[in-house]
Amino acid sequence: MSFIKDDNNRETLYIPGTARNAIHRSIFIIDDEEPVRKVLNTHLVKEGYNVIQSRGGKGIFELLRASPFDILICDIRMPEVDGINILEFVRENFGASPVIMLTGLTDAAVAVDAMKKGAFDYIMKPVKKDDLMASIQKALMHRDLLVRNRQLELENRDYQMSLVQKVEERTKELNAKTMELESAYALLKTMNIQFINVLAETIEAKDLHTRGHCNRMRFLCVELGRLLNLSTADLEILEVASLLHDLGKVSVNEAVLNKPGLLTDEERRHMQGHAETGGKILSGIPLMEMVAGIIAAHHENFDGSGYPAGLKGEGIPLHSRIIAVADMCDAMASDRPYRKGRPPEAILEELKRAAGTQLDPHIARLFIENKLYLYKDPR
Ligand SMILES: [Fe+2]
Repeated sequence: MSFIKDDNNRETLYIPGTARNAIHRSIFIIDDEEPVRKVLNTHLVKEGYNVIQSRGGKGIFELLRASPFDILICDIRMPEVDGINILEFVRENFGASPVIMLTGLTDAAVAVDAMKKGAFDYIMKPVKKDDLMASIQKALMHRDLLVRNRQLELENRDYQMSLVQKVEERTKELNAKTMELESAYALLKTMNIQFINVLAETIEAKDLHTRGHCNRMRFLCVELGRLLNLSTADLEILEVASLLHDLGKVSVNEAVLNKPGLLTDEERRHMQGHAETGGKILSGIPLMEMVAGIIAAHHENFDGSGYPAGLKGEGIPLHSRIIAVADMCDAMASDRPYRKGRPPEAILEELKRAAGTQLDPHIARLFIENKLYLYKDPR
């Protein structure tokens, strides 16, 4: 059992699927003949309905507005304002309240016309109590269904509105979260670049002979990467790997690292350990796993004669093969305490000789064709 609200915002008892009862129900009777009103009033009051009566006339519309009702029983033929006018007024202003018309025997055609204009039913005068009660029961049922339907529509509309609002709020929250994440990611990226630059400077500070090497490597490798049509993400990885490729040199004895003459076998093995060490330093760091693998393989040779794993051909990471070409060129071009940097013609010859053995022939050819061996440090 529940209560529903009608056109007048009154709470009305609603019992789904049962005949309507008379509790709290108001029936408005309009008839200019007092005896008719009296008969109707007697029947309805006996059944427990609240009854409002009026003889009609010019003030009827105000009275209808001022007197909430569930059903209107209205005579058709009346002086001043006739029943059809009242019917139209009620249909327009009290959509859920059924109107039952009262008609004389000769008014059948008018009654049919009233039904077309929205009357719920009509009763012939003189009114028989059984006809009256049957018509009222049906009208109440109809009215309650209309009110209930209207209430469900409103509830549905409210639900839809709250759903739209919830989706909008959730979208706003997600957008704010995305912006937060994007700015956090940008900050992380900046910090990462600064951290990488500090590491690159640390490597150069330890190896006196390779000042500026990391920056030249970055330029040459990124140029090669572009010529190889690498994606932006791959170019970023290549840039980091080229700056940090000799990170493992932090573990090399400075006396060996800065030795002016040729290295002994033992010293060379110690020096060669820098590739694997560099990879190990970075392994396990999120976002650096790929860089770690590239660094560990930057002294592998295309023909499998390199170190530390003796990888061969395309078994060597592409980024490592790029670094190997740029590294070989820059090593030859740089001055050493025991020799001067070699001229471009000699570097070119050496690159041609190493293509296919020490170096990836395709990458070496791109390097040569684009005259990258002529690159000079802007310092
Ligand atoms: Fe190296």
